[in-house]
Amino acid sequence: MMDKKLELKDIVLIGRTFDEYYKMFELSNINFKDEKIFDVASGVSSFCSEANSMGYNVIASDKIYHLSAKEIEEKCISDLKMVMEKLPLVSVLYKWEFFKDIDALKKNREMAYKLFIEDFKKENGSRYIAVEYPRTQFADKEFTISLISHFLFMYDEHLNYEFHKRTLSEIIRITSKEIRIFPIVNLKGERSLFVDKLLEDSEFRDYKMTIKKVDYEFVKNGNEMLKIKIT
Ligand SMILES: C[S@@+](CC[C@H](N)C(=O)[O-])C[C@H]1O[C@@H](n2cnc3c(N)ncnc32)[C@H](O)[C@@H]1O
Repeated sequence: MMDKKLELKDIVLIGRTFDEYYKMFELSNINFKDEKIFDVASGVSSFCSEANSMGYNVIASDKIYHLSAKEIEEKCISDLKMVMEKLPLVSVLYKWEFFKDIDALKKNREMAYKLFIEDFKKENGSRYIAVEYPRTQFADKEFTISLISHFLFMYDEHLNYEFHKRTLSEIIRITSKEIRIFPIVNLKGERSLFVDKLLEDSEFRDYKMTIKKVDYEFVKNGNEMLKIKIT
């Protein structure tokens, strides 16, 4: 099984929903009303849209946000199609529980990007901010909690260790309380080698980093998040 992986030429434009973020990041243990949450590389996820419609303060960031809604929609429709075509070949890498089957997954991903596009058309520039990591334009400690889903670690073939370090240092600068990263496995479903490297990296020795098992597993073995305490 370990020789199989989802072969991707580039980082894909596919988004998850609020329910998935809630489970992946164990958000049941935070009081949303007290937090200003930053979603890192949020792409076409509907987390920001759904959270704001519940009255929560969430800001999303991605390098695609300088594009028009139409351009984003075209790219995500084609990425979703490509991933759905490849998935049956590697379906053994996934646990079919949260999503019963490929069709249920497809419907969920479509729902996510449609909710995103609708909100992006209204709120682009206010809650959707164009950012090209590893740099951002935000002030020190502008957010209380930052969430990084399916970006760092997952794409360790596309983004090198230096990029991981620089991006993480930047997110630490703009976050006051805590950073959560999910998953910590890569596209082969193996724990990224960058995880241990980061845990041992002297640049981050001032921050308490812990790996926490969560109640969400879609990519097999992808059921752990990395928590980084800032204060
Ligand atoms: C797989 S998606 C994850 C989307 C969302 N976080 C989720 O889990 O549903 C990865 C996202 O990373 C974005 N991305 C890749 N490289 C980036 C960079 N250097 N700066 C900002 N965003 C980047 C892509 O545009 C894409 O939207």
